[in-house]
Amino acid sequence: MYQVYIRSFADGNGGGVGDIAGMKSRLGYLRDLGVDAVWINPWYESPMLDGGYDVSNFREIDPLFGSTAEATEFIEAAHEHGIRVIADLVPNHTSAQHVWFQEALAAKPGDPARDRYVFHPGKGADGAEPPSDWESVFGGPAWTRLSDGDWYLHIFDGSQPDLNWEHPEVRADFEEILRFWLDRGIDGFRIDVAHGLVKDLTFPDTGGRTELLGTKHPVDHPFWDRDGVHEIIRTWRAILDQYDDRMMVAEAWVHRERLPLYLRPDEYHQSFNFDLVEAKWNAESFAEIISTSYKASSAIDAASTWVLSNHDVVRHSTRYGLPAETDVRRWLLEGPHEDLEAELGNVRARAAGLISLSLPGSSYLYQGDELGLPEVWDLPTDVLQDPVWERSEHKAKGRDGCRVPLPWEPTGPSLGYGPGEPWLPQPAQFAQLAASVQAADPTSMLLLYRQAIALRREHLIHTEQLEMIDLGPNVLAYQRGSITVIVNMSDKPVPVPRGNLLISSDPGQTGSQLAPDTAAWIGTQ
Ligand code: NOJ
Repeated sequence: MYQVYIRSFADGNGGGVGDIAGMKSRLGYLRDLGVDAVWINPWYESPMLDGGYDVSNFREIDPLFGSTAEATEFIEAAHEHGIRVIADLVPNHTSAQHVWFQEALAAKPGDPARDRYVFHPGKGADGAEPPSDWESVFGGPAWTRLSDGDWYLHIFDGSQPDLNWEHPEVRADFEEILRFWLDRGIDGFRIDVAHGLVKDLTFPDTGGRTELLGTKHPVDHPFWDRDGVHEIIRTWRAILDQYDDRMMVAEAWVHRERLPLYLRPDEYHQSFNFDLVEAKWNAESFAEIISTSYKASSAIDAASTWVLSNHDVVRHSTRYGLPAETDVRRWLLEGPHEDLEAELGNVRARAAGLISLSLPGSSYLYQGDELGLPEVWDLPTDVLQDPVWERSEHKAKGRDGCRVPLPWEPTGPSLGYGPGEPWLPQPAQFAQLAASVQAADPTSMLLLYRQAIALRREHLIHTEQLEMIDLGPNVLAYQRGSITVIVNMSDKPVPVPRGNLLISSDPGQTGSQLAPDTAAWIGTQ
């Protein structure tokens, strides 16, 4: 599954922002890469205050990206290239520009027009304090007060009011939205903030308790992962099941013990597993994540998913070039930037690609992973657009650095991304990473990915089997059907297992030793 962050993929109509025409023009590239499907980040009408995750109309494509007719044509064209299309759906909140929120604003406190959102009087003598201590994911309070004194909830930015999923009209509208896109040929949905939606409407304080994933046992939380969410998912699944072969994948940041609930046979087909995003570069940590996640999905007969990067996290080629103890988000702004060993990060990212593509289930690639793009951590602060930058009062740099437009050609004003100035500047080093440069270089990351995807299709997708094996200290190794996967995460060369070397992340691989930070797939039967 290839994730297309549409704003930064390819700009076909010259507005500086990627669009449907751009995606369509690059379908050949995606076919040659060998992907089965694309997941497109939100393309709906939006004021774009959170990169399109602030939707003002779920049934219209934003004019920046094209039109609804073009979206339908794109889906057909992708299908002709053998590629399925997954849309991003954002049910937790809308944009403040959505007609429902505009109606709510025009109404008075207590008016039913406000019931589609989560409005509440404040605490304290004159209601001047927010109804609860809930914090926004982007920093600051999750409540904003209107001039008429009423407060509304926004778990993300103030421009993204949370919907009230107890309201029958909200439920009915989303069921129609699903059908709207399914009828236009969409193959499925990536559901944003799938563990949100349902809130405890008695609004208990959290006491600052926001940790969800790292706790030993699951904790009860007033706005995350509440049981009521499953009833909603089941109604969506029933709709999908009325069509042929459609799917839903959940963005659910929930405790490991709770994740299987989302994957029951009448709920999601898949849920992202973000554990590899958090993994430190050592064999023990990777092995633990791989075997635990695999066992958990096998136990409930669900497909595993593997994610190294996406549009919300620091690109892994940069993460792997930093000392293990680095708090990567803080490092973006605070450094020390001389700690970054970019070449080491790149070498490890090649190996990581071979890990992700060798595992059973679905491997999710984020656009640019296949080019080895680094995080652009040094974007000047005056170009930053992620709301995190402002909401954190300039204490966190946000996610722009992983969203810089792709380089397609080594020259030209936006390196082949489009005819005009791109919405975020591309760094000079992107020129040599351009897709056309890499397509002509047999040692490139792009060709490594192409070969690995082709080999995966040939040897790996027919089996779900995975067995961890011991090939020495700090060496990650497992058997997948007839293939042994070995990743040397130690600092000394290790012997390559006997067999037929199918691919190595080291383009100069010769002989019987595997260098540090290198992965290889060996045909052993
Ligand atoms: C998760 C998305 O991946 C992220 O980009 C977005 O900001 C939030 N959900 C809010 O919709």
